[in-house]
Amino acid sequence: MGRVSIYCDKLCFTACLILYIQLASSQKSSFASANSTEAEALLKWKASFQNQTQNNLTSWVNANEAPCNTWIGVSCNSAGSVNRLNLTNSSIQGTLLEFPFMSLPNLAYVDLSLNELFDQIPPEISSLTKLIYFDISYNQMSGKIPPEIGLLTNLQVLHLNANKFNGSIPQEIGQLKFVYELALNLNNLEGSIPASVGNLSQLTSLILFGNQLSGSIPPEIGNLSKLVELHLYDNYLSGPIPLSVGNLKNLTIMVLYNNTLSGSIPTSFGNLTNLVYLSVYGNKLSGTIPEEIGNLKFVEEVHLAANRFSGYLPRDICSGGLLQRFTAENNEFTGPIPKSLKGCKSLVRVRLQGNQLKSNISEDFGVYPNLQFVDLSHNNLYGEISDIWGQCPNLTTLRFAGNNLTGSIPSEIANANNIQELDFSLNHLVGVVPKDLGRLTSMVNLKLNGNQLLGSIPSEFGAFTQLDSLDMSTNKLNGSIPSIFGELISLNYLNLSNNNFSQEIPFQLGKLFHLSQLDLSRNSLDGKIPSEISNMQSLEGLNLSHNNLSGLIPATFVGMHGLSYIDVSYNHLQGPIPNNKAFQDVHNFEGNEGLCGNVVGLESCNKHVSKKKLVFAIIFPILGAVLLALLAIVFIKTRRKKEPGTEKSDIHDEIFSISHFDGKKLYREIIRATNGFDSIFCIGKGGSGSVYKAKLPSGSIVAVKKLHQKLDGEETLQKEFHKEISALINIRHRNIVKLCGFCSNSQHSFLVYEYLEKGSLASILSKEDEAKELDWSRRVRIVKGVAHALSYLHHDCVSPIVHRDLSSSNILLDYDYEPCVSDFGTAKLLNPDSSNWSSLAGTYGYVAPELAYTRKVTEKCDVYSFGVLALEVITGKRLGDLISSFSSPSVCENKLLNDVLDQRLPPPTLEVEHELTTIARVAITCRDSRPQSRPTMHMVSQSLSFQTAASTGGPDITLEQLIKI
Ligand SMILES: *[C@@H]1O[C@H](CO)[C@@H](O)[C@H](O)[C@H]1NC(C)=O
Ligand SMILES: *[C@@H]1O[C@H](CO)[C@@H](O)[C@H](O)[C@H]1NC(C)=O
Ligand SMILES: *[C@@H]1O[C@H](CO)[C@@H](O)[C@H](O)[C@H]1NC(C)=O
Ligand SMILES: *[C@@H]1O[C@H](CO)[C@@H](O)[C@H](O)[C@H]1NC(C)=O
Repeated sequence: MGRVSIYCDKLCFTACLILYIQLASSQKSSFASANSTEAEALLKWKASFQNQTQNNLTSWVNANEAPCNTWIGVSCNSAGSVNRLNLTNSSIQGTLLEFPFMSLPNLAYVDLSLNELFDQIPPEISSLTKLIYFDISYNQMSGKIPPEIGLLTNLQVLHLNANKFNGSIPQEIGQLKFVYELALNLNNLEGSIPASVGNLSQLTSLILFGNQLSGSIPPEIGNLSKLVELHLYDNYLSGPIPLSVGNLKNLTIMVLYNNTLSGSIPTSFGNLTNLVYLSVYGNKLSGTIPEEIGNLKFVEEVHLAANRFSGYLPRDICSGGLLQRFTAENNEFTGPIPKSLKGCKSLVRVRLQGNQLKSNISEDFGVYPNLQFVDLSHNNLYGEISDIWGQCPNLTTLRFAGNNLTGSIPSEIANANNIQELDFSLNHLVGVVPKDLGRLTSMVNLKLNGNQLLGSIPSEFGAFTQLDSLDMSTNKLNGSIPSIFGELISLNYLNLSNNNFSQEIPFQLGKLFHLSQLDLSRNSLDGKIPSEISNMQSLEGLNLSHNNLSGLIPATFVGMHGLSYIDVSYNHLQGPIPNNKAFQDVHNFEGNEGLCGNVVGLESCNKHVSKKKLVFAIIFPILGAVLLALLAIVFIKTRRKKEPGTEKSDIHDEIFSISHFDGKKLYREIIRATNGFDSIFCIGKGGSGSVYKAKLPSGSIVAVKKLHQKLDGEETLQKEFHKEISALINIRHRNIVKLCGFCSNSQHSFLVYEYLEKGSLASILSKEDEAKELDWSRRVRIVKGVAHALSYLHHDCVSPIVHRDLSSSNILLDYDYEPCVSDFGTAKLLNPDSSNWSSLAGTYGYVAPELAYTRKVTEKCDVYSFGVLALEVITGKRLGDLISSFSSPSVCENKLLNDVLDQRLPPPTLEVEHELTTIARVAITCRDSRPQSRPTMHMVSQSLSFQTAASTGGPDITLEQLIKI
């Protein structure tokens, strides 16, 4: 006991002594010494910064001059003592560990936002008892929020957002009785929201979104009678929404989406008469929506989607006449679409799909001057499609799929000439397809499949030059397939299957260079398969089954490398099947009498010698071009030490080849073409190796990746490795760089890839001129292409392939800026010891956050990297650079997507802007910190292909959402 008190005495004595010295010196003369003590203290802090020359504090030099007037960011009170420190965006790299809390007793305003401050907030912050304003947002601060912050009882504004704070919110925060703005969003905070928050009686903004907060919303929140904005979205909050929320009479914005809240919406919500924005989507809420919602006369947006709500939609949802966006999709709502909604002229976007609404939609719809987007799909709606929709001048998307609609398609719809998407599929529509639809030249996606439509396809459809996807399958359409379809140059998906189309397949379809899926099955098509089909270099799936086609399968099909699926069963085809990977499954040929070939179950062609010769005559000239795609896999097993000069003969002796091709010849050609890997042929360097350009004697150019790490000959022969390489070589996708072969001997190990003209996306984005060439539509195509490729690797390969190092450096572009993903699978290949996976994989900035604490690399890591990449493509900046390119948090807060699009390009058209919005939204979900909340690449690829941006509901995208860490 005695010792403790002696120790304490000493401490007090020292403290008193310092106090005495300070008092003495400040009393001694004018304010000079007070200013210089504070100046010295600030200089000492500055001296602790990491990069002395890089910050903006060059005016902080002399402790003997008044900091008040001459030092940047420093201001003083009338007594000459520092009371304001505004160092926002000053490139400071440092910590607060040596901040002179004790020496700046009058400090009231501190703004340190947008720097690179890191480490903890020291508990000594509590000595700044006069602090009114503290903002350290957009830094790299970590650790727990110190409970001592509760001692700053004069605080009015506290911004700790966009850092890496963890631990829970200290309950002492409830002592900040004058705080009106509390922003802790975008951190890693966990635990529950302390009930003491209810003591913050002056609070107007409570911003906690984007953390890992759990537990229920404390009912005490209802005490915050001045609250205007409540942002709790993107957390793990559970339990019911407390009744007391109804007390928040001043609330205008309530955002609770993406939590796991349950129970029903309290009737007390009817008291929130100032509410403008209400979003609770993505929770587990249930029950009916209280009719009292009709009291919210100022409400402009209501988002109820993806919950378990049931019962009728609220009768008076648009009673104030201001409602613009109403989304209630994917719930269990029943009954009619309320009159109030039908008559709601202010509507812009409505999503009610995926419920059990039962209503006659022929009636009572009005003219909506601002309406852009309506999705009523997958309900039990009936009646006819009203011609009044044609009077909505801004309508872009109208979806009624999967209902019980009858009658015919009104041609008046064509008066809404901004329409980009019509989806009337899976109903009971009859009659002919109105030719007036051809006037909708902005059309991107038209789905009329699964009805009972009659007659032929109007030739006016040839005007759809923007059309990406056309599905008219499963109707009763007849006549011929219009040759004008060859003009639909943007088409990616065409399905006319299961109709009564007859006559020949028009050869003009061969002009559809972007088509990836073509389904003409189950019709009465006859004649030959036009050889022009093989001009469709993007084609991946082709179904011609169940028709009356005859003659030979065009031998030119052998050159369609992207083709992964073909079905020609049940026709009258004859002759040999082309030697193409897609022709492997006998079921896709059955029902043809005359086909032969080297597929199990099919008759061999030996009997048809004359025909075979013919086929070879055609194939042979093409063979040169496709040679690379068929290159050998070579394993050279040699452990003997060699002189470089003797290499050739050794290879000859020791060669081990698993293919029919001449691997050793290729090896020699590559060594010769690169002059033994001379650096003048080097075109790039990566983590695992350097890439060389090699022009082979045949004229073909290949990219050769020489691995830093030499793979030992013995090891490479292991079965596992062998299988891995074969799997990679067998991958064929238009957006994946083709791996042609692999060579290894005691000198070198290298992979041989197809060569792509335009080089890497990273290098193009880094150069002003080249980045300008990469216009918006090319960028959109790049994002989609990469998504398709990853979806293919994850979901369509025998065993999923995780890329593990996706970045703009390994997206390569061909002469037409079509993207190809490269380097997939090599990370694992080079390091098969899976416990060490993460040690090799990943490029800084693209790596999923969970890899900081788990070593398990999953597909979801690629999804995260894809999100980073997609943002990079549309903003033109690496994510890190994007974040640091904003000058202050207030500037940042009002930024929307448009403000951060790559400024080197002219602003996008409205249509492209929609696509960019979709991409941004998808990117945000991909970058969710929780792997399980990220979509799969399949979902990503689907939503980029088939949803126009208008389909994505919810508020505008803010910069905060975009750059969430
Ligand atoms: C200091 O700044 C220079 C130039 O920007 C940079 O290269 C260096 O890495 C920085 N040092 C630290 C420790 O951050
Ligand atoms: C201390 O600051 C006050 C207020 O800025 C100023 O009037 C005074 O001259 C300063 N003293 C000295 C010695 O610089
Ligand atoms: C700090 O300065 C910036 C502009 O330089 C300003 O926008 C911000 O409001 C200031 N902060 C405080 C607390 O005065
Ligand atoms: C600090 O310096 C950086 C780089 O020179 C500059 O972009 C930024 O605007 C400066 N900040 C202030 C507040 O002057």
